[in-house]
Amino acid sequence: MSYETILLDKREAVGIITLNRPKAMNALNNQLMDELTAALRDLEGDDEIGCILITGSDKAFAAGADIKQMADKSYRDVFMEDFISANWEEASRVRKPIIAAVAGYALGGGCELAMMCDFIIAADTAKFGQPEITIGVIPGAGGTQRLTRFIGKSKAMDMVLTGRHMDAAEALASGLVARVVPADDLLDVALDAAEKIAGFSRPAVMIAKESVNRAYETTLNEGMRFERRVFHSLFAFEDQSEGMAAFIEKRRPQFKNR
Ligand code: CAA
Repeated sequence: MSYETILLDKREAVGIITLNRPKAMNALNNQLMDELTAALRDLEGDDEIGCILITGSDKAFAAGADIKQMADKSYRDVFMEDFISANWEEASRVRKPIIAAVAGYALGGGCELAMMCDFIIAADTAKFGQPEITIGVIPGAGGTQRLTRFIGKSKAMDMVLTGRHMDAAEALASGLVARVVPADDLLDVALDAAEKIAGFSRPAVMIAKESVNRAYETTLNEGMRFERRVFHSLFAFEDQSEGMAAFIEKRRPQFKNR
């Protein structure tokens, strides 16, 4: 499939999706979200790929849902097409890890897309925000829910109710992003992390992701029980004996990665 609003690049075991609507600050219109969904499904189904990177330009990861496409919609339109959910949730369904590499603006749906990824590496130029209140609506792709889990109620209320932007340093201090790096190093650092993840045992990586996500959905006791069960299940894969034998023999493990 050829894409017009994103670029898809496969570098060894890493799939890189670059949001690419430069004239619209990578605003997320239907075409882009359809193409993003298709690219994510392609990478999820590709045995060679062990980790996915989503990035934008140096100016914008994405400045939100496309306001020009949204402006004339009626309640009937958004209800009938299940607007924001129908083609917006693929990133949160993918079982392989996804890193968001964010430079410039990640606003509204852009911030929400970054939060659907497993973690965010931000350039020192990054700016996050949920400014929907300034255009008469509220976040519609998880901004009130995921942001609150990331940074807590007080700060999430501040962001959602005032619509202000948060810079990279504040996003790091608040726990929204995992790391902040100089803008020039963003892709290299994110690619390094993605390559590292892709080099580990694939089932262990996928199960680790599923387990951390469980922490958001259940009680501590249930989560601990889930973790123990899936920890045990990893002993059913050859990668466990290979990984441990390699440690003891002081060599690099040869994981099957499939
Ligand atoms: N939708 C459509 N077009 C957008 C856009 C968006 N979200 N964000 C920027 N653009 C377009 C602008 O209209 C402009 O296009 P024209 O040249 O044709 O006028 C172009 O991108 C460049 O933008 P600016 O001239 O505004 O650039 P700037 O540097 O002055 O400001 C910005 C950059 C701060 C990101 C500003 O564009 C902005 O505030 N954008 C809107 C942010 C926003 O409100 N996002 C939330 C959208 S709603 C949403 O996302 C709902 C949800 O929860 C899913």
